[in-house]
Order: sequence, then C-alpha cells, then structure tokens
Amino acid sequence: MNQLVHRAYNFNAGPSALPLPVLEKAQQELIDFRGTGMSVMELSHRSAAYEDVHNQAIRLLKELMAIPEDYEVVFIQGGASLQFSMVPMNFLKPGQNAGYIMTGSWSEKALSEAKLFGNPYQAASTKESQYRRIPSLDELQYNPDDAYVHLTSNNTIYGTQWQKFPDTREVPLVADMSSDIFSRPFDVSKFSLIYAGAQKNLGPSGVTVVMIRKDLLEKAETKVPTMLKYSTYVKNNSLYNTPPTFGIYMLGEVLNWAKGIGGIDEIARRNEEKAQLIYNAIDQSSGFYLGHAEKDSRSFMNITFRLKDEELEKKFLAEAKKEGFIGVNGHRSVGGCRASTYNAVPYEACKAFSEFMVQFQRTNG
Ligand SMILES: Cc1ncc(COP(=O)(O)O)c(C=O)c1O
Repeated sequence: MNQLVHRAYNFNAGPSALPLPVLEKAQQELIDFRGTGMSVMELSHRSAAYEDVHNQAIRLLKELMAIPEDYEVVFIQGGASLQFSMVPMNFLKPGQNAGYIMTGSWSEKALSEAKLFGNPYQAASTKESQYRRIPSLDELQYNPDDAYVHLTSNNTIYGTQWQKFPDTREVPLVADMSSDIFSRPFDVSKFSLIYAGAQKNLGPSGVTVVMIRKDLLEKAETKVPTMLKYSTYVKNNSLYNTPPTFGIYMLGEVLNWAKGIGGIDEIARRNEEKAQLIYNAIDQSSGFYLGHAEKDSRSFMNITFRLKDEELEKKFLAEAKKEGFIGVNGHRSVGGCRASTYNAVPYEACKAFSEFMVQFQRTNG
C-alpha cells in the first residue's frame, strides 16, 4: 500500500470501502483509458473498448462466483430497491402467492412492494425477537405452488446472516444479497434469482447485479414496461439503453483485484478473520458490549452491538469518530453501533477498531 496516501478506517454500511489498488488503477486510467485518449466515462457504450470492459465484468462474475451456464447475469440501475418491485412485477401474477422470509427492514420493504402485484405472505418472521436471528429451516412455511420464496441473505441493519440456505426445491428461491454478495462461496444453483446493489462488496453505487436462471425467465409476465422487464436486459446484454459504464468498469476492476488475491475462498477467509476480531472484543467484554445478533446468526459483514447505556454509547461513538473510525454508528432506524467489514475493509482497520474497543472498555468499564 502507498504509505503516503491517507485512507480512513472506513466502516460505512454502503457505499463503502473500495480496494486501494482499484482506486489507484482507476486514477491512473482516468484521463486516457487504455490508449483511447479519454476516460471510461467518456467512451461510447457501443464502442469496442467499452464492450470489452462490460463483457469482462460479466465473465469475471461468472468465473469467480461459479455461476452455472444456465444463468444470465445482467446489470440494472435503480438499486436493490427497484428489485423489490421488479421481482414481483415480473414473476408474481395477480392471485399468485409468494413467501417472504422476514429478517429485517429490507425484507419488509421487499414484501410491501410485492403486495402491489400479487399475494405475498410471511413464510417466517423473527420480528418478535427484534430480528436478532435468522429463522431455522424448519420454521419456514411456504407452499409448493408459490411463485417464489424470497429471502434477504444478510441483514445490513440488524447484523444477521443466513449460515445455511434453505433448499426450496421446485419453488424458485429469490435472494436479496446486497450486503453479502461475493463475500463467501455458496451454491448459486439453489437460487432462481439473486440481486445485489454493487455498493458494498462489488463497486460503487449505481449498478445492481442480477443473476437469473433461464427457466425462471421463461415464466415472466410479459405485460411489463420495457425497462422493467428482465428479458430486456438479457436480450440486449444489459445494453438496451446506456448502462452505468463507470460503475461497471469499477465492478470489473474490483473482481480483478479479488481474483488476484486468491478469489472467493480467500475473500471469505479474510472476512471471517476480520469479523472475528470485533466479535472477540464483544464476547470478551463481560457484557460491556452487547452484540445484537444471536451467535449462530451473526453476520460477517455488519457487526451490530450496543453499550449498556445510551450516554456511554454516545461517548463511544464520539471517541471512535475522533480516532478516525468512520461509519460505526448504527442505522438511523435502530441506533447503537455497527461496523461494516465488507471485502475491501482491510484487516488493519478491523484490528485497530477492536483494539480501540478494548481500550475504551478499560478506561470506561
Ligand atoms: C440488504 C439490502 N437490501 C436492499 C438495500 C437497498 O439498496 P439500494 O439502496 O441499492 O436500493 C440495502 C441497502 O443498504 C440493503 O442493505
């Protein structure tokens, strides 16, 4: 790492840290992208130079996430929030049911959009426990003729994460993976559709990655506006209209960086190690820090905790900010503290934060 560069200890929940080598490469290529005499942002999206960038990003996603052949990978704008509407608009016909597994605020938002199109219902919910846990597989109740079952793989606000995904067999499984996409290996083939905003683990905001199995695509509703149909993106390689070219370029570079450090297995190993540093500070604090998530539902991406009283919590957050730890306040809807330790957050930042936690307890415990 270039020691002269000042880089914050960035624990933002999204948009969040990007790998320094990627930023440096983008900086280097900004004025004259690979001999074109212009930046990526100035290239026509119909040019060969841009198409290379675009196709390389898709190729790398398929390769590094081991996405099977029968899936399409597309880039859409509008964030994961638009996917809350696009999924039911395309796949939930009037009168059809779909099971939504409720594990936090993002699942609630997804469910409420689906109500505009069909009959979604709660296939499980852990709201009664303040979303401290992921439901066990035998708590899930859905029907074999449901249009799909929807889950949120990682709950950015509450700090919980699915450790083992359900096998819904003939019922298509749809997942919002916005906050843990590409953080660990998993079997893509268990899902019919996966969507994720790029701004946590994959790149800047403005690009949403969607992976769809072809057999689901065939069941799509046809009376949907062109820009809201998945098939429009599939048929046109996400180039029906102008895509977010710079974001897609950055996403490709983030994937290149990930490949260079050892791919998804190494990413997962690092994520676990980083998160563990902070969970250890919680677990060894004898109740000074109180983790929000139940242990077997803990997220390796968003670590949520409280201090025993609000005054102390305010002091903790103020001191953390003074020490240069950015973004460690909890989401505005729940308060408390949250450290988001996404792929590009360095080990050193997590180590420094865990040491700060221990030191703060020493002087205030
Ligand atoms: C799990 C999850 N789903 C959906 C969203 C909404 O994403 P966007 O802002 O891209 O619409 C977020 C944003 O943080 C999220 O964490």
